[in-house]
Amino acid sequence: MPTAAGHRAITTASMLTAEGGLELRPRLSEIPAHVGVIMDGNGRWAASRGLPRIEGHRRGLEALRETVRAAIDFGLDYLTVYSFSMENWNRPIEEVTDLMGLLKRFIRNDLKDLHKAGVKVRVIGARDNLKPDIRALLVEAEDMTRANTGLTLIVAFNYGSRQEIAAAARALAEDVLAGRVKASDIDETLLAQRLDTAGLPDPDLIIRTSGEQRLSNFLMWQAAYSEFVFLPMHWPDFDRRAFASALHVFSERERRFGGVTARGQADKVKS
Ligand code: IPE
Ligand code: IPE
Ligand code: MG
Repeated sequence: MPTAAGHRAITTASMLTAEGGLELRPRLSEIPAHVGVIMDGNGRWAASRGLPRIEGHRRGLEALRETVRAAIDFGLDYLTVYSFSMENWNRPIEEVTDLMGLLKRFIRNDLKDLHKAGVKVRVIGARDNLKPDIRALLVEAEDMTRANTGLTLIVAFNYGSRQEIAAAARALAEDVLAGRVKASDIDETLLAQRLDTAGLPDPDLIIRTSGEQRLSNFLMWQAAYSEFVFLPMHWPDFDRRAFASALHVFSERERRFGGVTARGQADKVKS
């Protein structure tokens, strides 16, 4: 049943024993399997403190670390973080260089700890226009953690949803030309198998910080039935508590997937 997909009842209290767990325990009855996060507002966080934008990105990396730890403690299966969009190349070269440097730092400093915590890293986005040292680090992160069975951390880096869909269409066209696929067989399943996210469940919940309410080219295909939670805080201020409250909001949403839920049917009978 699609309505049940992506939801798992919390069955053990042990998932909730970490710091911040107490405020989760009484309210949260369901957790999403897959959460996507648009980590936005680093620049404004820094500007409002009279700091350079890079300082916002540095603090944003701290928030990412806390978010990954919380995702493990909350028992999520998949966490996708939007760390650099294809359109972010339009920023000043100094900022792009800083952001590339931070990604390198994250992988170099944190990969061993992530591996120890059983995290499986997967990277989505284009690789061809990245520098060789960055490409090598991404491959290293995926290779080292491939067999892990804990949280899957999907890093959307140099990612753009439109470009991803266009690449999938191109791959299908090549399959048709080579006679591997019949054009009449192309459907949403075949297309989804050509996306970077092949094999991953769609995100149940997408959280965006900074007050902006848009996708900015993030998981547009995959978010067809995602719930959205937009938070006014900037990304460096996002923490375990904010994450827990977004999960709580999610747990109270009614997902329908185009159908009729028990709640909807009861209303209909009454009227
Ligand atoms: C998010 O913060 C980080 C990236 C996009 C890489 P921003 O850098 O977009 O911060 P604002 O939106 O300008 O405040
Ligand atoms: C989206 O944020 C990209 C990431 C968070 C990595 P942006 O700051 O780039 O998005 P816009 O420009 O406000 O839409
Ligand atoms: Mg932004």
